Amino acid sequence: MLKLAPSILSANFADLGNQLREVEAAGADRLHIDVMDGHFVPNISFGPVVIRSLRPLTSLMFETHLMISDPEKYIDDFCEVGSDLVIIHTESTPHVHRAIQQIQGNGKLAGVTINPATPLVVLEELFQEVDLILVMSVNPGFGNQKFIPGALKRIERLAEIKRKNGYHFEIEVDGGINTKTIASVCQAGADVLVAGSAIFNSPEGIPTAMKTLKTAAGK
Ligand code: DX5
Ligand code: ZN
Repeated sequence: MLKLAPSILSANFADLGNQLREVEAAGADRLHIDVMDGHFVPNISFGPVVIRSLRPLTSLMFETHLMISDPEKYIDDFCEVGSDLVIIHTESTPHVHRAIQQIQGNGKLAGVTINPATPLVVLEELFQEVDLILVMSVNPGFGNQKFIPGALKRIERLAEIKRKNGYHFEIEVDGGINTKTIASVCQAGADVLVAGSAIFNSPEGIPTAMKTLKTAAGK
């Protein structure tokens, strides 16, 4: 069964609480929270205080996607404010394994992600350690970008590795997911799909946009 993770990066920040309630009511499986520092990626979004104020509004799982340099400095903060799953980029620290231990040491689920140009092989030693692998299908930093088709092969390869070895990590895909791309991404083997602009910027409104996405996914 497909899981949908609306990314609040494309939400109306002046009305974040209501938008969050709306995606929850429309059947979101978890909330994707994009944190950007203007250093690891060329954009700035928000920090832990925003997550802290959203936490009491919903029981949805919070997955925090850290697009920040030196994530170790802030992992404890992002865990403390209510993230259930914290995702770090392998490119953001030389000590990825230690950062994963830090997340899990806080009693949270740990995910890793890689930019589109990073070879899958960097994940090899982490397959047994992580709860989720996020395949970026755009270069991180902005919502509403075009899906990079090469991501499909990467999802397929990852799904095959997972199947052959019986690994437990979920495969999530982030960037450019819309009614045109969603079916092929599911077909390739994704378990969880992030969608920002396709949900929050849809002229049809949030509930219809989510329904349309699930129908287009064929799952
Ligand atoms: C990109 C972020 C994504 C973004 C996806 O850096 O990690 O989560 O919000 O946005 P869409 O779905 O609009 O491509
Ligand atoms: Zn993201």
